[in-house]
Amino acid sequence: MQVPERYLITSALPYANGPLHVGHIAGAYLPADIYVRYLRKQKRDVLFICGSDEHGAAITIQAKKENTTPQAIIDKYHKVIETAFKGLGISFDIYHRTSSPIHHETSQEFFLKLYNNQVFEEKESEQYYDEAYNQFLADRYIMGTCPVCANPNAYGDQCEKCGTSLSPNDLINPVSTLSNQPPIKKATKHWYLPLNKFQNWLNDWIIKGEGQTEEWKKNVLGQCASWINNGLHPRAITRDLDWGVKVPLAGAEGKVLYVWLDAPIGYISATKQWSLNTGKDWEPYWKSNTSKLVHFIGKDNIVFHCLIFPCILKSHGEYILPTNIPANEFMNMEGDKMSTSRNWSVQLHTYLEEFPGKEDVMRYVLCANMPETKDSEFTWKDFQARNNNELVAILGNYANRVMVLTAKYNDGKVPELNEALLSEPYVVAYQAQIKSLIEEVYCPAIENYRFRDALSAMLDVVRLGNKLLTDYEPWKLIKTDEAKTLGILRLCLESLVDIAIVCEPFLPFSANKILGYFNLSDPGFNYLNIKLSTGAALGAPFYLFEKVEDEVIAKKLAELEEIRKSRMEKEQSIDNQQVEKVNPLKPTIAFEDFSKLDIRTGKITSAEKIQGADKLLKLNVDLGFEQRVIVSGIALHFTPEQLIGQQVAVLVNLAPRKMRGVESNGMILMAEDAQGKLHFVQTPDSTESGMPIS
Ligand code: 2FM
Ligand code: ZN
Repeated sequence: MQVPERYLITSALPYANGPLHVGHIAGAYLPADIYVRYLRKQKRDVLFICGSDEHGAAITIQAKKENTTPQAIIDKYHKVIETAFKGLGISFDIYHRTSSPIHHETSQEFFLKLYNNQVFEEKESEQYYDEAYNQFLADRYIMGTCPVCANPNAYGDQCEKCGTSLSPNDLINPVSTLSNQPPIKKATKHWYLPLNKFQNWLNDWIIKGEGQTEEWKKNVLGQCASWINNGLHPRAITRDLDWGVKVPLAGAEGKVLYVWLDAPIGYISATKQWSLNTGKDWEPYWKSNTSKLVHFIGKDNIVFHCLIFPCILKSHGEYILPTNIPANEFMNMEGDKMSTSRNWSVQLHTYLEEFPGKEDVMRYVLCANMPETKDSEFTWKDFQARNNNELVAILGNYANRVMVLTAKYNDGKVPELNEALLSEPYVVAYQAQIKSLIEEVYCPAIENYRFRDALSAMLDVVRLGNKLLTDYEPWKLIKTDEAKTLGILRLCLESLVDIAIVCEPFLPFSANKILGYFNLSDPGFNYLNIKLSTGAALGAPFYLFEKVEDEVIAKKLAELEEIRKSRMEKEQSIDNQQVEKVNPLKPTIAFEDFSKLDIRTGKITSAEKIQGADKLLKLNVDLGFEQRVIVSGIALHFTPEQLIGQQVAVLVNLAPRKMRGVESNGMILMAEDAQGKLHFVQTPDSTESGMPIS
C-alpha cells in the first residue's frame, strides 16, 4: 500500500442549533477520531478538520422559537458542541465556525470562481412568498397538509408523520409559518448547479470506480447508484434568506449560498484558519495529489459529499477529490429513532455531566455498535453489559492484576527481563500472535474503516496477555522460581504498554492512565518493542473501569419510559386535534371538480416495506384492466400480510409521484376514525376490480 504524504480528514459540520446526541457521534465523529488517532500514532502527517455550521433556515427558525437572534443561538450551541467534543476526546486540529469572516470570503471566492467559469445556470422560478413579512419562504417555513397521509402539519420539505420527503408544491393548503397566511407564488432568480452535466463523469468515477484508489462502502455506493440511475437534475445552490453567506453579485440582495456551497467550503476555510494559527501551509492538504482526503459523515449527507461537493471541487479545478467517504448509517436507541427534537436520545453533553470519568465507556460502546453497514441500536443494558463484561472484566481486570502482582512481588518496580523465558516456545508463539493480530487484523481493519473489527482485535490483544498470565500462574510460580515469575511480570507489563498503544484510538483516556502508570508519554507505534528501564518505579495499582450498577441503568430506563409515555400522550392529543381539524366540512365544489376524479375498485395483490421509510408500503394493486404500483403511508396501521387480498377503492388518475425512489400511481382511499385508526373504503367482496365508483 502506498502511504499518502499527508491526510486531510473532515467530519460533517454540525448545525449549531442544538446539542449533539451520541448517534451523531457514532456516525461521523468517533470513527474519524479513531482513524486520525491511529494515523497520528504512526507519525503520519494528518489534519483533522471540523466546525459549526452556523447558517440555514433551521437556525433562524430555532431563534424565532427561542425568541432570540440567530447569532445568540449559534454562539450558545457552538460552545455547547465544542465543549462536548473536547470532553469526549474528539481531537480536531481545529473546530471552526462558518460565521467567521474567513469562511464568508472563502465561500464567496468559490462561488465567483465557478460563476466566472460559467458553471452555473441562472433560472427564474415561482417560489412561495409571504406578503405580510415581505420574504420568500424556506421549505421549513411552509406548512400544509401532507398529500400522502393527510397530516395537516407537514413541512415543505418533509412530513414528519409519514416520513415522506416533500417539496413545498406538494403541500395541500400551504400556510406560511411566519404570518399564518397562505403564501403567494412569486418569481425569483437563482443559480443552479447543473448536476445533469456531471452525470457521466459521476457514473465513471463512483460507479465504475475510474481513478479510484480505494473501494467505497456498499451502503455509500448503493445510495449514489440510485441517484445516478434515476437521472440527475440541476439543483439551486442559492436561497432567498437573510442569514448566511451573501451571494456576491450585483442584484442578488437578499440571497445567500445554500448549504452545498457553504458548509463543505467550511472544511477549506477551517484549514486556512488552522494555517493562520500554526504558520503551516494549508494548500498541500487540499491541492496536492499526494494528499488523501477522507470525509466522515452520516448517511443523510451521502448525496451531498459524494455527488454535489465533488462536482463543486472538480469545477473549481485546483482541488483534489475525496479518496473515500466512509459514511455510516444511523444509530437508533431503545427501539426508536434517536432524535433531539423528540427528546429520544442520549445527549453528549448531558452524558458527560452525568457520567464523569466514563468518556471511554461511551466511546467503547459507540464503537462496538457503530452503524458501519446498517442501522444499529444503543441500549442502556448493552452499555452496562459491555462496561461490566468487557471493559471491567477483561481490560480493567487484566491491567489491575499485573499492577497488583508487580507491587507484591517486585515492590512496584519494573522487573528484570528473563532471557531464557523469552526463548520458550510458548512466549515466542505469544509474541508472534500479538504481532499478527496487530499487523494482519487490527491495522487493516482501521485502514479500511472497519472500526468494530479493529476494536475487537484490540480486545483480543488484551485476552492474549491475560492468557499468558493465567497459563504461567505467577502466584504459584513465585514459590519455586522467582526469576521466572518476575520475567513473566515484565512481559505482562510490556503487554500493558502494547495495549495502551492499540487501545489509544478507541480509549484515549484509559491509554493515558496506563502510560501514566509507567511514567511514559508517547511510546509511538512500537508495540513488542517497549524499552522499560529495569528497576524503574511504577505507579500505584488502580482500576481502569468500575462496574455500572443495575440501579443506574434502571434509572435511565425509567427516565425513558416517562418520556415515551408523555410523548404518546402528546401524540394522541395532537392526533385528536388533527381529527377535529380534518373533520369540518370542506368548501363546496362544483360537479365538474368531482367528475375529474376517477375512482375504481381494486384488490391488493402484494405489499412490501420500503427500506428506510418506516411508514410507507409499496403495494401492487390489481385494477382488473391493469396492475398498479401504489405507495401508501399506512405501514404503521397494517402489516404487509394483513393487506394482501384486501378490496380497496383507488383514485387512479392522480398524477404519478416518486416516494423514496418508488413511483406511486394512484392513491388508496381510507377512512380515519376519531382514534386515528384507518379503515378501507370497500365495496362488497363480490365486486370486480376496475369498476368505476361515482
Ligand atoms: O447536514 C448537516 O448537518 C449540515 N450541517 C451539513 C453537514 S456536512 C458539511 F459540513 F459539509
Ligand atoms: Zn404524511
